[in-house]
Amino acid sequence: MQHFLPHYPSTLWPPAASAMAGEIDMIFAVWCAVLFLLVAPVFVFMAWCAVKYRAGRPADRTHRERRNTPIEMTWMIIPFLISLVFFFWAGSVYLRQQNPPPNAMIISAVGRQWMWKFQHPGGQWEINDLHVPVGIPVRINIDSQDVVHSLYIPALREQEEAVPGRTMQMWFQADRVGDYKLFCSELCGADHALMAGTLYVMSRSDYQTWLQQFATSRTLVSGGKSLFDSYGCSSCHGSNASGTGRAPALVGIYGRVVPLSDGSTVLADDAYLHDSILRPKKQIVAGYKPIMPSFAGAMSDAELAQIVAYIKSLGDRSEAVR
Ligand code: CUA
Repeated sequence: MQHFLPHYPSTLWPPAASAMAGEIDMIFAVWCAVLFLLVAPVFVFMAWCAVKYRAGRPADRTHRERRNTPIEMTWMIIPFLISLVFFFWAGSVYLRQQNPPPNAMIISAVGRQWMWKFQHPGGQWEINDLHVPVGIPVRINIDSQDVVHSLYIPALREQEEAVPGRTMQMWFQADRVGDYKLFCSELCGADHALMAGTLYVMSRSDYQTWLQQFATSRTLVSGGKSLFDSYGCSSCHGSNASGTGRAPALVGIYGRVVPLSDGSTVLADDAYLHDSILRPKKQIVAGYKPIMPSFAGAMSDAELAQIVAYIKSLGDRSEAVR
């Protein structure tokens, strides 16, 4: 039953990337066909009456008091039975759609103004794009950090709200490798339309490779982001390192020339970032007070490396954990 429709490249009918999508298309198509069969005779009869009883045409217009119980029962019972067929058919698909298999791989999705953040079981995360392996059930736990969003993946015929304070879920098993669109389908503010990306359905080996590439670079950065918060860096440098006035913003700082209070300048390279955390009083950025405490001894080398990786990542918007 799956993929009974060919892989239309048109945007009018999105491709079906899962067996479930094929089933939903089938329900939709059969439903349309039944509606057509029920409605078409009405319009044919209307047209026939319009011609036969046109003004001036000689026709028998006497009112006939005639009841036909068998006909009335028929047109009630047959549509009722047809609707029952759809009730059980769509109901069974719905139940399967609502109940992820217990062995499903779990990915967390967080919606916020205005981006989707997806996190894989190994901690790898990505913004707006989602990479999944083909042929494996995937369950997505969906949360929102601010307003109501809605995760919508047309190729899977799946859509689920992201509601603040509540975890919603969606699951699917993609069975066709390819790139598909994903959207936010709930008007959630000024940049709602930008809250979109791509679902990459990959072969299992490609997915493993992708995870490994991410494992090194990105977990370092996301670990650094949480350390940045837990060490309290964000209380002065801002929660997104965007600055608060008490301490300089760190967004885009890596690789930039920084003016210092003694009138000199310094290039913000790895050494400078390390130094500023361990010996913050050595070089004071122009316009700021020397209020930052030293983290020498408080922070392990591994933690320092993660925080530096995070600060470096802020230079590139697509890489930044915001
Ligand atoms: Cu989020 Cu629209």
